[in-house]
Amino acid sequence: MKYIIFLYLFILFPLKVSSDFSEDLKTIVNTKDCDWKCTFNYSEVTSKTIEYFPRNCEDVCAILTFNSNTDLAESELKRVFKQMHYLIGGLRIENSNITSLSFFTLIKVYDTFNFICDTCKLYHIYLIGLSIVNNSLLEDIAILQNFQFWVTPHSAYECPFQILNNTKLDTTDNTTLKDMSFLKSLKEIRSKHGKINRNVVLNIHDNYEMRRLGLDNLEELYDVLFGPFFINLENLHPEFCLTFEELLLFYEQRVLFNNIHAKYCPESKKKINGQKLCEIRSLDTLDSDCDYLLGDLVIDSYEGRYLYKLFNVIVLFGTLKIQYTKLEGTNFFYNLEYIASLNDSHPAILVRSNKYLKQLKLPNLKVDSPSLTIHVISRHKDAVVIEDNPVLFSSNMECLMYRI
Ligand SMILES: *[C@@H]1O[C@H](CO)[C@@H](O)[C@H](O)[C@H]1NC(C)=O
Ligand SMILES: *[C@@H]1O[C@H](CO)[C@@H](O)[C@H](O)[C@H]1NC(C)=O
Ligand SMILES: *[C@@H]1O[C@H](CO)[C@@H](O)[C@H](O)[C@H]1NC(C)=O
Ligand SMILES: *[C@@H]1O[C@H](CO)[C@@H](O)[C@H](O)[C@H]1NC(C)=O
Ligand SMILES: *[C@@H]1O[C@H](CO)[C@@H](O)[C@H](O)[C@H]1NC(C)=O
Ligand SMILES: *[C@@H]1O[C@H](CO)[C@@H](O)[C@H](O)[C@H]1NC(C)=O
Repeated sequence: MKYIIFLYLFILFPLKVSSDFSEDLKTIVNTKDCDWKCTFNYSEVTSKTIEYFPRNCEDVCAILTFNSNTDLAESELKRVFKQMHYLIGGLRIENSNITSLSFFTLIKVYDTFNFICDTCKLYHIYLIGLSIVNNSLLEDIAILQNFQFWVTPHSAYECPFQILNNTKLDTTDNTTLKDMSFLKSLKEIRSKHGKINRNVVLNIHDNYEMRRLGLDNLEELYDVLFGPFFINLENLHPEFCLTFEELLLFYEQRVLFNNIHAKYCPESKKKINGQKLCEIRSLDTLDSDCDYLLGDLVIDSYEGRYLYKLFNVIVLFGTLKIQYTKLEGTNFFYNLEYIASLNDSHPAILVRSNKYLKQLKLPNLKVDSPSLTIHVISRHKDAVVIEDNPVLFSSNMECLMYRI
């Protein structure tokens, strides 16, 4: 089985998929103030039930379910759904013969379809959301790019979202998701896992055609119970890349990664947030006023006289290696806040064989509060390796954590 995406928005554990259709629909009707004339009160879409679909309504309340009993041509669905621009409730396409989702009709001016995904119920946790599972003939879900997903802002409940085991979608090159831009209006992902839970919130894996994340409006990722927020990016297209902005967002939001199978996106920019970005060739040719660095920074025994150039650096997109130096400390990294390394063959930080090194203090490198590790993104499994620095102050907390 191949998963395309398995993404929970506003997830709440443990999962319990609701099975009581009429209870669920009643909740939607009550909480969303649905007009009964515009409510589709049937648990599946078939040639029999479709007669009762409220064809003249723009806002339809329903748990619209397409399954193995769905025996309607997509052209017929297109006709029936012509007026519907807002779906309030849930959408399930499971075990069906459907080939394309283009039977939804977009609002002309905005080119969008609105999905008000709100499925909360007090005390019982239950899930409807959007589910596209086990559809062996489905090959076109492009319309999801025009879906606007809405979730009640005050709600701590969840809008689960899953697309998995749709064989054609997984294997047909031209229709496989190249990015997640169908969720481009998504601003916020909240989880509710807590401090000891290491559940992955955003799990994107085995999407061999995925080259970009494409969640361009994403601003906030956090756990409402102050736990860690895990993302997994695994087995994507070999050119899958993250932009500097995305990496900075992950830093600001303190995201942790199980896997980060990604490169830096090729970009020619010279500034980030109005501050200077420099590519590292060597320290002697590096400008002395760089705020962001791209590349692998090696500080060896001969680099001592250039270290002043690193004083302004806030972020390093690359690896840091300090080796064979006569340095006693690392004060020249006074402003360094963040390292994001996407090199899978080296740890993000390697400090080795510095005979005189007493202090390895990176005063502004942020510590991640839930796990108390220094916040470094590392594609290599070891984020930090410190070895063979004989006089490194042994009571230094940061060193003790990584001592080898
Ligand atoms: C749906 O129909 C059933 C049976 O006619 C009825 O009991 C139920 O109240 C209806 N639900 C809604 C939300 O209108
Ligand atoms: C779905 O496709 C299968 C295989 O082609 C067929 O046997 C089945 O009758 C179809 N189901 C419906 C509801 O059309
Ligand atoms: C998908 O198919 C598997 C295997 O046939 C089944 O166990 C699972 O319940 C199906 N999922 C859905 C949502 O129907
Ligand atoms: C995937 O979906 C197909 C039907 O499309 C089903 O026969 C198969 O059992 C499913 N596999 C899993 C692992 O759910
Ligand atoms: C993908 O699309 C191109 C041109 O649009 C076509 O030549 C190619 O055969 C398609 N590939 C697949 C696997 O459908
Ligand atoms: C990782 O670093 C090594 C040595 O610094 C370099 O040769 C290699 O190209 C880098 N790999 C990537 C994917 O950047």
